[in-house]
Amino acid sequence: MLDRSETINESPCELVLTSPPVREDSDASGLGKIARGATRVRVDDKAMINCRADVNQLLPLKYRWAWEKYLSGCNNHWMPTEISMQADIGLWKSSDGLTAGERLVIKRNLGFFAASESLVANNIVLAIYRHLTNPECRQYLLRQAFEEAVHTHTFQYIVESLGLDEGELFNMYREVPSITEKAAWAIQYTQNLSDPSFTTGSVAANRAFLRDLIAFYVVFEGIWFYTGFVQILSMGRRNKMIGIAEQYQYILRDESIHLNFGIDVINQIKIENPRLWNDTFQQEVRGMLQKAAELEAAYGHDTMPNGFLGLSAGLCEQYMHFIANRRCLQLGLEQVFPSCDNPFPWMSEAMDLRKEKNFFETRVTEYQNGGSLAWD
Ligand SMILES: [Fe+2]
Ligand SMILES: [Fe+2]
Repeated sequence: MLDRSETINESPCELVLTSPPVREDSDASGLGKIARGATRVRVDDKAMINCRADVNQLLPLKYRWAWEKYLSGCNNHWMPTEISMQADIGLWKSSDGLTAGERLVIKRNLGFFAASESLVANNIVLAIYRHLTNPECRQYLLRQAFEEAVHTHTFQYIVESLGLDEGELFNMYREVPSITEKAAWAIQYTQNLSDPSFTTGSVAANRAFLRDLIAFYVVFEGIWFYTGFVQILSMGRRNKMIGIAEQYQYILRDESIHLNFGIDVINQIKIENPRLWNDTFQQEVRGMLQKAAELEAAYGHDTMPNGFLGLSAGLCEQYMHFIANRRCLQLGLEQVFPSCDNPFPWMSEAMDLRKEKNFFETRVTEYQNGGSLAWD
């Protein structure tokens, strides 16, 4: 069974099919000189990358899907401190409430996410924002950057509530090899873009930018985070660490939109720059997704050497294959693993916040600012 977010981006029909002309009367960063007396921006002037239309002009909107994701993100606002940690504190401090295996997976999981949220935020602010030359997409990036800050805040709140060793958790990305491998794999793509002289424009540079988008949106947020969600939500289903599980649900809802935004951005860039997406590059991207799943399998074995509560490293590896195949489909690629079933069909329920509220029996208040609860 597919979870709800997995079905959202099946059709790219809302993506815009025009490729705009390049204008030379403004700059792509928004930091250049003001083009006095320049002609007004027309919707067709706008483009995802290498755009010379004034990036400070949100309207007229060209990519409505980006604006709608910004609105969805705002509607889903939440803060970690609004969730009670009392039950988690009691369980964590009890001598017989959790097994050694469960404690290991909780700590490794928190350690992975604690640093990953910052790596993702750094990539948005220091790499992606600079090169994505569309104001409605930038508007969403600003919202996403704030959400990543809220997620980092969540891990600070958990560490403080449970009295965890903050140094141990926040250094895990440097000290636990399977976590370091993942962080190092992803950060190489940011480093490519962080060179101050890097600019998009050439085919090679545009591809470097696409690689970064794929590494962070599709792999980091769209594949790797999902093992972490399964681990903690699985505990929540069994009435363990229900405060953290609830916080992970809100993070999952946010991340679902981040992923779908990233997929839309990548697919729109492909439409506007068809030369980038040649066979060679498609095979390279498939190789990236395959490598990501392998790194995740190693992480699964590291965090769950003996399995617990119906979870095992083997099942998580199968789940990664299932998810990686789904991401291939969303990018229009051939799948990288033989077809396999989703070993955690309950994730589709977990992603329905209202159902899960009843499931955890924690709070009855639904977080959402107005409007109906929606994932994207
Ligand atoms: Fe996040
Ligand atoms: Fe995210």
